Amino acid sequence: MRILSLDSNPVHQIRCLNAGGSPGMFAEETIPVLTGRVEGLPKGVDTLLITSDLQARETFHDSCGRPPRLLGEAIPERLADEWLPAWGFSPARTAVVLAGDFWTEPALDARGGIGNVSDVWRAFGRHFAWVAGVAGNHDAFGPQPGTPPRFAGNLHFFDGTSRCFGSLRIGGVSGILGNPRKPWRRTDEDYLSRLETVLHEPLDLLILHDGPDAPHHRLKGRANVRERIESRPPKLVVRGHDHWPAPLVELPAGVQVLNVDKRVVVLSR
Ligand SMILES: [Fe+2]
Repeated sequence: MRILSLDSNPVHQIRCLNAGGSPGMFAEETIPVLTGRVEGLPKGVDTLLITSDLQARETFHDSCGRPPRLLGEAIPERLADEWLPAWGFSPARTAVVLAGDFWTEPALDARGGIGNVSDVWRAFGRHFAWVAGVAGNHDAFGPQPGTPPRFAGNLHFFDGTSRCFGSLRIGGVSGILGNPRKPWRRTDEDYLSRLETVLHEPLDLLILHDGPDAPHHRLKGRANVRERIESRPPKLVVRGHDHWPAPLVELPAGVQVLNVDKRVVVLSR
């Protein structure tokens, strides 16, 4: 799978509430939606919707008097019923890639935190063909942070694993490199060993939350993850966690890296 073009002008800005550092300090922000063209989508899928790090909640206006839902739980319905059809895409032929970090505290009074994002995955799964993704370091899937979800049906969670969707092989590694006593954080050795296992199969798409740096473009990330990727290059890497001003770059080995931190990217044939 290769991205042929990506329009830097957003087709839409999603309004949301971002938590502040103390009670009442939350702020209204926007998440840009970018569109582009891609080749190599599997049969039955005309559009791929890719996102991560939607660490925000819907606005009070959109929540209609209820406690604001996680942004990732709120937007699938509007994407499917309103926005995608208006931009010329078919929700039934749209698949979703989630690259982690969809939690924000309900009171919007603290940044970070860890919470259950299962309803985000389920909301995307209800409205689209299938969902493939990984966990971020702020995601939980039940009462025990760090425990992988037990999704069924059209929700496909990856952590050192891969599988085929028609002609497309997708793999992924969850979490970040860091202190392994915290949920979804791993020693370099553990993370890189999972990455090597996934890269053993030739991948069309590798989904990560943490991910490679891009030193030629002065973009933040992990040099050791990039080196592993360049030794057995997948066609496309999707990552989140670190915000890059440039969403799409190409590594010298020819691998495209799409950074979807606080963005929604919609790629179509
Ligand atoms: Fe993260």
